[in-house]
Amino acid sequence: MAANMMNTLLEKLHLTSADQGGAPAQEPSSEDLKELQEKYEKAKQGHVFAFYDSLDTEGRAALFDQLSSIDPGRINVLADKALNPPTPSPEEQQPSIEPLPSSACASLLDAAQEEKDGWYDAGLGHIAENKVAVVLMAGGQGTRLGSSDPKGCFDIGLPSHKSLFQMQAERIWKVQQLAKKHASTSTDPVVPWYVMTSGPTRGPTEKFFREHNYFGLSRENVVIFEQGVLPCISNEGKILMESKSRVAVAPDGNGGIYQALMLSEARSDMRKRGIEHVHAYCVDNCLVKVADPVFLGFASSKDVDIATKVVRKRAANESVGLIVQKNGKPDVVEYSEIDQSMAEATEGSSGLLKFRAANIVNHYYSFRFLESIEQWAYKLPHHVAKKKIPYLDTETGESVKPEKPNGVKLEQFVFDVFPFLPMSKFACLEVDRKEEFSPLKNGKGSTEDNADTSKRDVMEQGARWLRAAGAVVVSETDTAGVEVSPFISYGGEGLDYLNTREIKAPAVIERADSKDD
Ligand code: UTP
Repeated sequence: MAANMMNTLLEKLHLTSADQGGAPAQEPSSEDLKELQEKYEKAKQGHVFAFYDSLDTEGRAALFDQLSSIDPGRINVLADKALNPPTPSPEEQQPSIEPLPSSACASLLDAAQEEKDGWYDAGLGHIAENKVAVVLMAGGQGTRLGSSDPKGCFDIGLPSHKSLFQMQAERIWKVQQLAKKHASTSTDPVVPWYVMTSGPTRGPTEKFFREHNYFGLSRENVVIFEQGVLPCISNEGKILMESKSRVAVAPDGNGGIYQALMLSEARSDMRKRGIEHVHAYCVDNCLVKVADPVFLGFASSKDVDIATKVVRKRAANESVGLIVQKNGKPDVVEYSEIDQSMAEATEGSSGLLKFRAANIVNHYYSFRFLESIEQWAYKLPHHVAKKKIPYLDTETGESVKPEKPNGVKLEQFVFDVFPFLPMSKFACLEVDRKEEFSPLKNGKGSTEDNADTSKRDVMEQGARWLRAAGAVVVSETDTAGVEVSPFISYGGEGLDYLNTREIKAPAVIERADSKDD
């Protein structure tokens, strides 16, 4: 891309080329400092320089460098829009919300086996041709879980003590092998893994991958890249300082994926490899089918630019986001955006909820669509997350740990891109929740979406797969379950050798000769 085009784009994205790395920072000249100070004064954010004169050279250089990478005028615009949202237009106030048209949807719960097999074979074919990449969104800070390590390092308590990252890496390895077998080729197919991290998660994620030798995957096929950050803002719209020499910043939400794919080496690496299909998913789902051939085959056969997996909403009052058609465009509505009668409405004689497509943030992208990020990324809205943000009081110089939310983090959502597409380029695949979705969100003491429910769901899935293969799973408790290593089975296949075998749960099936605990 021409340099001036890239600069215009960076401006739109409120970044400057200072974000692009380069020589180590040095204390600025007095002219450069004056110019930057004036920029911040003009934006009424001059307080960020409150302690500049008291800093040593390193501190001054670091602060100057960080402040140069932020456009305070643009931050004011974003903060103002987020804190004082404009009055919605009549269309926005009373949007037409409908389920997606049936032409855009399919369900693994009721599709014919032949159709599912067709998608599976097509997906394996794409993998065998090295046309598939996966992108992991792992830049979140996992505040609810409360672990100091990135979420992907978390051990959910399986007998093997595998981390979420390891389970995902092993599934990538396995799906490559399945594709190799499917295509009867002698070369190993490659599904490159692009791991999106953020300022807080990058270092520890890289270390964890190095220490675990990339979980057996080739180093050159794992690309760890970093999403952007945005300054944290006080409730009054002022940029918050973390220390005298540093602005408080936070990752810009999982919607930062688009900007990060474009600005990092990730997208150009995909281009070089000839990638055509991309699967993107969240780090915290222990049941995620990474590079799922069925999903890839489904989406590519429909020739869409984005497809999304959903699970069936459990009950009318389950508080989940829903994939819908809003004003004729694919979109996500939050639970609070639909009224009770809509939430409870049922469909014909089936008794199924009319609005039941629960969002699990698991997406397919055509690579051609990711090539157009420049044209729309700057239009993605910013959402407000009210948080307790520790900050330095620039009046008193004291560090404050607030008891209640004192400011906001500005976040983009990965699915806010949906309405940029015409309905014809979007598709939705309903999958079986117990086979594909169990997120790790909450810490100890919580009742749902925690390490215990994650472990339970993996172990129950293993026991189900074994029983379906004809094994007899016996256990003293109802909940013991079996952990099936992804090296043995990706989605329940390849377990026939256990037919009629008795497996004492809890057990681990780690090798083809199996081992009971
Ligand atoms: P969540 O919204 O659940 O956030 O992220 P989180 O960071 O995991 O947890 P809390 O809200 O702080 O407790 C859903 C997915 O989006 C990714 C997360 O890593 C997770 O895979 N994400 C979130 C990013 O990649 N970047 C972000 O800035 C935020």
